[in-house]
Amino acid sequence: MRKILMVCLGNICRSPLAHGILSHKAKEKKINLIVDSAGTGNWHTGNKPDSRSINIAKKFGIDISNQKARQITKDDLFEYDLIYVMDTQNKRDVYKLCTNESQKLKVKLILNEVNVDSNNSVPDPYYDEIDGFEEVYKLLNEACQKIIDKI
Ligand code: 4NP
Repeated sequence: MRKILMVCLGNICRSPLAHGILSHKAKEKKINLIVDSAGTGNWHTGNKPDSRSINIAKKFGIDISNQKARQITKDDLFEYDLIYVMDTQNKRDVYKLCTNESQKLKVKLILNEVNVDSNNSVPDPYYDEIDGFEEVYKLLNEACQKIIDKI
């Protein structure tokens, strides 16, 4: 079965949304997919997603309130088939955990699914008001739809 890991910095704002949206779309289409998320940092380990992420997901009918933050490990690079990162700093940080070139090939900027080779980053909404979270939701929804359409 295909395994996809969503990665951001804190694993409380962007990657939990990407995790929830992709899982939801897979379920809707009856596609067998294992989806998880992780952060490159460990400050929020064990915490629920940020309440603003929970609320924006809820607005679109997705419950992410049971997710728990964790830090990415080297084992994830073996375990997962694809690792979608939210920004270019996440990509540099995940590359540092890779032990071979084939692992690096698994690491992809999620917005390149929408605009190939654009190397755009999903903005970090942590210091934003709810508007920033709505924009992040829309970007991730578009990207996750592309991912599902390719499977
Ligand atoms: P995320 O957002 O990487 O989308 O989960 C952040 C959450 C927390 C922090 C930074 C970014 N922080 O510095 O605590």
